[in-house]
Amino acid sequence: MNDTARSEYSGTAVVTGAAGFIGSALVRRLIAQGATRVVSVDALSYAGDVARLAAVADDPRHRFIELDVRDQGALTELFAAERPATIYHLAAETHVDRSIDGPEAFLQANTVGTLRLLEAARSYYSAASDSERAGFRFVDVSTDEVYGSLGSTGAFTEASPFDPRSPYSASKAAADHMAAAYFHTFGLPVMITHASNNYGPFQFPEKLIPLALTRALAGATVPLYGDGGNVRDWLHVDDHADALIRVAQRGAPGEVYLVGGGNERSNRELLDTLLSALNDLTPGDIDHRDLITLVSDRPGHDFRYAVDSGKIERELGWRPSVPFEKGIKATVAWYLANRQWTDSISDGRYRLERLGQGR
Ligand code: DAU
Repeated sequence: MNDTARSEYSGTAVVTGAAGFIGSALVRRLIAQGATRVVSVDALSYAGDVARLAAVADDPRHRFIELDVRDQGALTELFAAERPATIYHLAAETHVDRSIDGPEAFLQANTVGTLRLLEAARSYYSAASDSERAGFRFVDVSTDEVYGSLGSTGAFTEASPFDPRSPYSASKAAADHMAAAYFHTFGLPVMITHASNNYGPFQFPEKLIPLALTRALAGATVPLYGDGGNVRDWLHVDDHADALIRVAQRGAPGEVYLVGGGNERSNRELLDTLLSALNDLTPGDIDHRDLITLVSDRPGHDFRYAVDSGKIERELGWRPSVPFEKGIKATVAWYLANRQWTDSISDGRYRLERLGQGR
């Protein structure tokens, strides 16, 4: 392990996509762990929600600014004023089904957005003092989906070739190539992470876990794509946030780190566990698993993702700490206790309908 860890908490951290599911978990964690200053940046598109930042909103160490990362001029001004030691880049369009319905928005937000952010970071970095430059890190947060789809065995590693298969993963892969190019060409201290499927509080209800919970609580069917045999590796969002902080503190510029939960489940198994937990936590004898309904498959549906997290475990000392069954139970309990949050979305912004049939 690298003993010369930076103190991530002593400089200013800028987090893009900070009002999103993973970005907000990272901001809450940074503040809870004693960060001196965190600047949350978010465009507040349909999936962004400042309610996720309520826990830190009144903290004097936290500032929120509404800003689209494609606005390079505004970013340049922000960096000149805030002088970040770390930029965590999480701003993205992330839902595969929406990328099937409209690829262009993904190229814009993910690829063009990342390019503009990198460019603003480069101009800040190149004019910074020697000590600012020595301490600066850019963490580009990406997905395991850039590596494509696995058969029933094996796992992605940092050496796996990119093979994106959805407009979403293609837009992220393009952004990741750009981030790597800024390291190699301009010397920007970029590190890239690729994580598996996240779960936990405040996930937007278009994704499998919150969609299933929100629909089941409304007594609606729970759609399971294809035959339910597709496999995902589930990572608690707080473990992901810890991994990103660890990368910023101890990672080596130019390196790539894969982050997985080590919890591979077929979608059928996942829904069984999730809806059984819902049965346990709700009164009455309804079996919510009866609501599971097979529906037509997602076009180009990747069969399986699995991540070998050996590098970040060995080199940076990170390990997932949330046991899967416990994390799922806590997540179900959170959605039960926070129904007004999902209601505020399903009443208007997203009505829990099927997306991504490519029509
Ligand atoms: O692997 C990391 C990726 O995980 C992230 O980069 C993405 O942003 C994130 O959305 C997630 O992608 P998935 O496509 O795996 O997530 P989603 O929740 O959409 O679907 C999980 C699995 O469940 C997938 O195999 C499709 C299936 N599914 C999904 C929905 C929404 C269903 O069976 N029924 C559904 O209604």
